[in-house]
Amino acid sequence: MADFIKLLSQQPVMQNLVLTGLRGVGKTVLMETAKPRALSAGWIWVGTDLSETSSISETNLATRILTDLSVATSLWEYRRVSNTKPIGFETEPTQQAIMLNFDTLGRIYDHTPGLPSDKLKKVLLVVAENLPEKNQGILFAYDEAQNLSDHKETAQYPLSLLLDVFQSIQRMNVPFLLVLAGLPTLFPKLVESRTYAERMFRVMFLDSLDHAASREAIMVPISRQDCPVKLGDDALDLIIRNSGGYPYFIQFICKEVYDAFIQQYGPGAAPTVPLVEIMRKLDTDFFAGRWARATDRQRELLSVIAGLDHCDSEFTVQQIVDASRALGGKPFSNSHVSQMLATLGANGLVYKNRYGKYSFAVPLLGGFIRRQLADA
Ligand SMILES: Nc1ncnc2c1ncn2[C@@H]1O[C@H](COP(=O)(O)OP(=O)(O)OP(=O)(O)O)[C@@H](O)[C@H]1O
Ligand SMILES: [Mg+2]
Repeated sequence: MADFIKLLSQQPVMQNLVLTGLRGVGKTVLMETAKPRALSAGWIWVGTDLSETSSISETNLATRILTDLSVATSLWEYRRVSNTKPIGFETEPTQQAIMLNFDTLGRIYDHTPGLPSDKLKKVLLVVAENLPEKNQGILFAYDEAQNLSDHKETAQYPLSLLLDVFQSIQRMNVPFLLVLAGLPTLFPKLVESRTYAERMFRVMFLDSLDHAASREAIMVPISRQDCPVKLGDDALDLIIRNSGGYPYFIQFICKEVYDAFIQQYGPGAAPTVPLVEIMRKLDTDFFAGRWARATDRQRELLSVIAGLDHCDSEFTVQQIVDASRALGGKPFSNSHVSQMLATLGANGLVYKNRYGKYSFAVPLLGGFIRRQLADA
């Protein structure tokens, strides 16, 4: 939060933010928590979750941004900068004030000559010129931003468009800040699209909670006097270990534990944590869908990875190849592994870090795969 707040005091805006981390680590919650702070610092907050649809084409992405922006600007009066006709109006508009609503933003976009990037840039510049004095700037917050992609096949480059436009208007001292949240695949994607993205973003990697923080996350909610659930140290350790410190897993396991405790409570019996059942439920609710989407050969590869000692941190192509040879069966070649990891990356199961090593993009995936293999 402190880092986030620091970015809000930039004038001019030099650094944008990438908020990244594995599934369920708390990116969305952090962003939502930062929102009231940004608002009270005078920022206007716009944005939504980015879907794959908004990233199909440059026009789709521009429409997305115009739509989000217009929610904030629709009641602003379009102040003329000079005596000329406002952009987007063929004839001098005679009616009352023009508002910067979606319709007006769309007209400015349509009537600006050039590429979608020129058009979008123009709209943003007009909005900046009309920014109310009491406001610090506009913060564009996009969650699930790993869905952004360029598409060579269709010659559509929405991701590059976004980076180009923000880089260009920020150079002109426009106080617009870009905050992108998403899976660890996000930042490598940005850099691949535009190398200057390295310098444009500050990257915050949210990690799982450490032991003390996990303990707090579990104990604080049940510390009220009237709470019927009391956990001993053994139960606490069991939950921390099996959740890996990931907030989503802590929440999931604890809900099941509380439900079980409340039902088991009766005279005499000391309640136990039904861990095997809970993990089975987690497998069905959280992992199974992702696993089902993998092909047989991809599952074989993932199983080889899950057998590596350090699969929950990092692994390399060579380690996978070596392990697959050692296992017997049909081994994987280097190029095959690289190629499959790229596909698994696009499917959001693994990601490649900046040093060329790979990791699972889903927390505790290794343990899930090993449970599957044991069951089989
Ligand atoms: N600081 C926190 N304290 C307590 N619970 C939290 C905290 N952060 C996140 N959580 C809980 O963990 C769960 C996952 O959080 P969140 O949805 O923000 O993760 P995410 O990183 O956005 O996940 P995804 O990659 O799936 O979008 C939520 O249900 C939330 O309630
Ligand atoms: Mg999220």
